[in-house]
Amino acid sequence: MFVCNCNGVRMRDMSVAVEQVMGGGAPTVAAVYEACGVAPKCGRCKVDIQRLLDAANAESCALAAE
Ligand code: FES
Repeated sequence: MFVCNCNGVRMRDMSVAVEQVMGGGAPTVAAVYEACGVAPKCGRCKVDIQRLLDAANAESCALAAE
């Protein structure tokens, strides 16, 4: 399944990029694009990328609270 159709970035590759930026201290949508080696075009995938970041952030907060 593609998250970013314009750049042909699949969910598994986007998830890896999200994990990379979560460990790097700058978890932004722009950082995820950069980690994937692409630039935004139409921008429709930004909402989905932000959701992935939010989910990863919530997971890391939950782990920190344990
Ligand atoms: S779908 Fe990602 S930039 Fe268009």
